[in-house]
Amino acid sequence: MSEQTRYLLGEKDIPKAWYNVQADLPSPLPPVIHPGTMQPIGPADLAPLFPMELIKQEVSQERYIEIPEPVRDVYRLWRPTPLIRARRLEEALGTPAHIYYKYEGVSPVGSHKPNTAVPQAFYNKQEGVRAMTTETGAGQWGSAMAMACNFYGLDLEVYMVKVSYQQKPYRRSMMEAFGANVTASPSEKTKAGRDVLAQDPKSPGSLGLAISEAVEVAATSGGTKKYGLGSVLNHVLLHQTVIGQECVKQFEMAGEYPDIMVGCIGGGSSFAGFIMPFVQEKLAGKKSTRFIAVEPTAAPSLTKGKYVYDFGDQAATIPLVKMYTLGHSFIPAPIHAGGLRYHGMAPIVCYLYDTKVIEAVAVQQNPVFEAAVTFARAEGILPAPEPAHAIKVAIDEALKCKQTGQKKVIAFNLCGHGYFDMAAYDDYFAKRLPDFEYPTAEIEKALAGLPQVPA
Ligand SMILES: Cc1ncc(COP(=O)(O)O)c(C=O)c1O
Repeated sequence: MSEQTRYLLGEKDIPKAWYNVQADLPSPLPPVIHPGTMQPIGPADLAPLFPMELIKQEVSQERYIEIPEPVRDVYRLWRPTPLIRARRLEEALGTPAHIYYKYEGVSPVGSHKPNTAVPQAFYNKQEGVRAMTTETGAGQWGSAMAMACNFYGLDLEVYMVKVSYQQKPYRRSMMEAFGANVTASPSEKTKAGRDVLAQDPKSPGSLGLAISEAVEVAATSGGTKKYGLGSVLNHVLLHQTVIGQECVKQFEMAGEYPDIMVGCIGGGSSFAGFIMPFVQEKLAGKKSTRFIAVEPTAAPSLTKGKYVYDFGDQAATIPLVKMYTLGHSFIPAPIHAGGLRYHGMAPIVCYLYDTKVIEAVAVQQNPVFEAAVTFARAEGILPAPEPAHAIKVAIDEALKCKQTGQKKVIAFNLCGHGYFDMAAYDDYFAKRLPDFEYPTAEIEKALAGLPQVPA
């Protein structure tokens, strides 16, 4: 075992291919269903929204998909990211556990999101697209897309969930600095937005609704605009596997292997990207790492949702996906972890949860901020509210080790810094943060009207 604190790789270690877990799943993922025909969708159904290369990646069963050299070239701006042993946190907790974190906050916009924004913009550019649309919750994804589209000379329209637009004005400024056009969602620009505003002029918005607006603009553009999604889809999770692949090498350098890996889940992309290469080992029966997905009690898709076919967006315009869901009409409480307020979850993450390869827990936002502050005081980095959910559970596991005396290796994904989230920290210190528990009855109600997909 090495006694280093930071495990750093060189540029030559940036992965040359993304790892596609679909090649190693014991059975195929449930098909994506067209809501009109109730039949599995084909590439033509997705073509108005995505470039063909991304559609191919979405359904590919190839184990490795080569990363284009121009994309690796942009990755060089921040990759490989460090794996850091949190020695000072271990000491502060008095735990015998070894705690490591993979730090994605070193990317130019401060999170893991550019790992997929860059290839998405690249493939769109390659296929002649001139403009893109997208949604953003916390503003992290929008910032990443704004940077990537700027690199490739693409115009970008961002629909930002209204509550985040108000909570995080500087994320909006950042997107504008890269040349993006940002609109608070719900907006008057789309039918989906106008319908919601007609019913509730004060609607705080939701990720599901912002997706509907961005999709509507692309789908009705006559082919001049395409759409980019920051999470959930298979190709997005695929791109994020650069995180986990680097981690494998870094744990080899450390001479350790994680017993427990923890990540937050909004749509599931940072968690999946972090764990997938380790899941590969578990599926092959070589390792028995525990993978813990952490979600807010205010948006508990895995822990309280149902594994059924649902729409990925509020206006029910995109195809039906089998996932753990709270119902696409879900309007979340305005908790500060904006990126975790989504009603559904990535189909790959759902499949792994359903087959018990991974576990999930839900946590309240006050204990999450308490953990974030404990971490910051020990390690010097203020985490974004989203990965602070993972920190809370990593600390809980480390404290269990303190009780049992076990020397477990615990790793978590610090997928973003929190320097644009200071209003959230302000609210926490002023004791203005309420805790929310999403009521089960609401989920039953929201799921009652879903279309039944034949088995
Ligand atoms: C910093 C950060 N972490 C996590 C998430 C959640 O998304 P995902 O589960 O796809 O990683 C977001 C989404 O906006 C985010 O900004």
